[in-house]
Amino acid sequence: MATLKTSVLGIEFENPFLLASAPPTAQIESIDKAFELGWGGAVLKTITPDDLEMIEASPRYSCIKEKNQVIGFQNIELLSHKTIKYWCDGIRYLKEKHPTKVIIASIMAPVEKDEWQNIVKILNDTPVDAYELNFSCPHGMPERNIGMAIGTSTEISILITTWVKSVAKKPVFVKLTPNVTDIAWVARAVEDAGTDGFAAINTVQGFMGLNLDTLEPNLCIDGCTTYGGCSGEIVRPIGLRCVAQIRQNSKLPILGMGGISNWQDAAQYIAVGSDAVQVCTEVMMNGYGVIKGLKSGLLNYLEQKGMDSISDLKNIAIEKIIAHGSLNKKYFVCPKIDKEKCVACGKCTKICSESEYSALSLVEKEIKLDKEKCQGCSLCSIVCPQNAISMGK
Ligand SMILES: Cc1cc2nc3c(=O)[nH]c(=O)nc-3n(C[C@H](O)[C@H](O)[C@H](O)COP(=O)(O)O)c2cc1C
Repeated sequence: MATLKTSVLGIEFENPFLLASAPPTAQIESIDKAFELGWGGAVLKTITPDDLEMIEASPRYSCIKEKNQVIGFQNIELLSHKTIKYWCDGIRYLKEKHPTKVIIASIMAPVEKDEWQNIVKILNDTPVDAYELNFSCPHGMPERNIGMAIGTSTEISILITTWVKSVAKKPVFVKLTPNVTDIAWVARAVEDAGTDGFAAINTVQGFMGLNLDTLEPNLCIDGCTTYGGCSGEIVRPIGLRCVAQIRQNSKLPILGMGGISNWQDAAQYIAVGSDAVQVCTEVMMNGYGVIKGLKSGLLNYLEQKGMDSISDLKNIAIEKIIAHGSLNKKYFVCPKIDKEKCVACGKCTKICSESEYSALSLVEKEIKLDKEKCQGCSLCSIVCPQNAISMGK
């Protein structure tokens, strides 16, 4: 029998699914409900010093939809509006009611030693399991020299990690931003400064475009907009890449996230090195109840694969991700056309001829391949509307 139980830095998780720091973890009553429904833990909405001003914009969310499904989300939301006392009381309440659930306090403060250390010292006296340092919010905060302004500077990231580590009585995860050239570089810097683990990714900075009729931005606040943080399915390849890059450079635990909307996505994050995963946008779209499918899907998968726990899946993809120069360039695949499925629409021949090679042609309603010209790029199999083309050796 496989199990979803796992252990990270000595913290026992009943399952590897945590709510990420965001609206679903912005109040105690909601987290309580999420725990009842089966979440393994929650990262609290980022806690800040009580006097740090938080004035929200309205509206603050926008999205990209495909077939009426949200595939990309964007927000310009700030951090928790609750006081440090609210969170301390809440952590005590939640831990008493749900002792087996993991609670991680996300924190952010101005770049001053006392500001960071004060919050940590207060939280040290609660039963919180760990800290997550938010060095990565891409909107609102960077213009106040915090959030992503911290995570894009190795010097400041090192400084704050050192301050926090010198007082923290619980393990520390640094939440990294994908909005840097080399996330592994920042990860190495905070590892040297003493972090116990990483969380990645926070949102990806983007612009959601404009309405071409009204010429107003899609996320429009009285005629203007600002760059916001993108999340959901559209950022998953970026999140997976970031987690893999961190894992290829570090053995420390990683809480992986970014576009997890089902158990398959979670499994991918574990395969590239995550020790547990966090979910935000999917929960904002469909509610806490999605935990049921996440848990049963992942457990069934482990059992089908004959794996005992997520440790057997962890890192499995890592050695398969290598430098371009190390790929076997003698390996060659070319298209195989399924004549039953092909309707001779000519899309593959058109695209192939417009993309340099002209290896495919339509002869008497049949697709012909010129093997001499084919470069094995696979574009034809991608554009075929009938899924009639597969690539084979
Ligand atoms: C509306 C919203 C608010 C968020 N607030 C926070 C926050 O306060 N602190 C934080 O570290 N991350 C915050 N995040 C980022 C998420 O925790 C997460 O890193 C990101 O959304 C990627 O995961 P997802 O694709 O599952 O949403 C927020 C995300 C959203 C969408």
